[in-house]
Amino acid sequence: MQEILEQLEKKRAAARLGGGQKRIDAQHGKGKLTARERLDVLLDEGTFEEWDMFVEHRCSDFGMQDNKIPGDGVVTGYGMINGRLVFVFSQDFTVFGGALSEAHAEKICKVMDQAMKVGAPVIGLNDSGGARIQEGVASLGGYADVFQRNVMASGVIPQISMIMGPSAGGAVYSPAMTDFIFMVKDSSYMFVTGPEVVKTVTHEEVTAEELGGAISHTTKSGVADLAFENDVEALIMLRRLYNYLPLNNREKAPVRPSADPANRIDLSLDTLVPENPNKPYDMKELIVKTVDDGDFFEIQPEYAKNIIIGFARMEGQTVGIVANQPLVLAGCLDIKSSIKAARFVRFCDAFNIPVITFVDVPGFMPGTSQEYGGIIKHGAKLLYAYAECTVPKITVITRKAYGGAYDVMSSKHLRGDVNFAWPNAEIAVMGAKGAVEIIFREDRKDPAKLAAREAEYKARFANPFVAGARGFIDDVILPQETRKRICRSLAMLRDKKIENPWRKHGNIPL
Ligand code: HXC
Repeated sequence: MQEILEQLEKKRAAARLGGGQKRIDAQHGKGKLTARERLDVLLDEGTFEEWDMFVEHRCSDFGMQDNKIPGDGVVTGYGMINGRLVFVFSQDFTVFGGALSEAHAEKICKVMDQAMKVGAPVIGLNDSGGARIQEGVASLGGYADVFQRNVMASGVIPQISMIMGPSAGGAVYSPAMTDFIFMVKDSSYMFVTGPEVVKTVTHEEVTAEELGGAISHTTKSGVADLAFENDVEALIMLRRLYNYLPLNNREKAPVRPSADPANRIDLSLDTLVPENPNKPYDMKELIVKTVDDGDFFEIQPEYAKNIIIGFARMEGQTVGIVANQPLVLAGCLDIKSSIKAARFVRFCDAFNIPVITFVDVPGFMPGTSQEYGGIIKHGAKLLYAYAECTVPKITVITRKAYGGAYDVMSSKHLRGDVNFAWPNAEIAVMGAKGAVEIIFREDRKDPAKLAAREAEYKARFANPFVAGARGFIDDVILPQETRKRICRSLAMLRDKKIENPWRKHGNIPL
């Protein structure tokens, strides 16, 4: 027996060593942790249960039959994050560059299948040279098996991808189908075709970092949500994100008790919005002053900054925040911001997270680049997302709510449950100046007359009471009491239940 135990320990030690000390040193040399070290940071101490440590590839081409490493380049299993179950896979770059073989894919599929059976999220730590070149189509099949599971799990369990090394070619499509993507600066990249192919095909010269690094994907493409300085920071922030999420689509997110009183008044909010309606202010100030303990976990902070999205808590309960940002493009909705917010609203809806929307929107962004880029279709995504959303929806109009954007931003008409407006809110088809220039065209040559018309229009429509008279907003509230009113509304909505009609699936304007 002793001998058997020793053999077992030897096998385990070989698996733990992955591609060997030299490659581990090389990994450290690049400022990266190994696959196992990453799991140590991500999971609660001592909770990791590893599966399939002894799996080996079955390839016999190119001398691979003599080159087998137990575990085959991916560490899989389950563990806990702050005492809550999570399934994980962590690709080991020291073993064949973390490349995905058929057996490697089977290990990933196994944890995904189990996660679906028990209803717990999957976190993938990606660090891989892509398809295992020696295996050919067997590897491609393995990818597709993972993709299929990503799609089946979408909206059932949260899926989160951390890109901590290369992710290239079709391999990028598994992370792309997960709910959130984090990246590590300078050591991770994602692209469909690398710099060399780009150069051959388009004659563009671009580095891997410029083409698909963390900064590019969190500022330009919007493919990734957050970029971090190093592995440790990224993994710790991933633990923070995890705390906001439910385990699956049938559960509610965990409640974290807070000492922040639900009826806390903030007088400074009464002066947040400047007198001049064309002057910007920082919507983040309102968010931070409204949520529990000022704690806001922003998603995609560097992309489409004219809209803000992220998680926070109200009386301990997770909420999703969507807010126009008047500081950027005056808070207009454009293609990127519509897509950004639509995807977030759909995530919240899928996972029982109430959505709070702060509105200050002068409309959709005009111009050929927006129209040719398809703002009609992309703006409709946000409209669609809010309209199909059945979780509690609370809306606060802080200033402008003009035109179609008024309708889109969680209006009463899209089944907003509680719609508030601040006293200075302007809920109208458009701003007074633009409006009178259209309806009093003949007065254009007479600035005094036009100014009088503008004042008249403003007095009539640039307020929340016309909408209030129709019940389109439920109450005009003082800015200082925003938190209190939202907390009460959320408590009232705790057991809200509505259902959309049966259908195979809707046809969101993609
Ligand atoms: C097998 C691979 C591999 C791969 C790397 N290795 N990629 N083995 N299949 N895809 C091995 C290397 O041979 C090397 O082995 C070790 O991993 C480390 O690789 P290095 O090249 O030394 O590391 P580095 O210089 O950091 O470069 C990393 C890299 C590069 C940029 C990822 O290895 C690379 O370009 N690899 C090929 C990438 C690729 O073309 N993949 C297929 C993409 S197509 P030793 O023994 O020397 O340590 C694809 C399709 C998916 O993925 C389709 C899904 C639908």
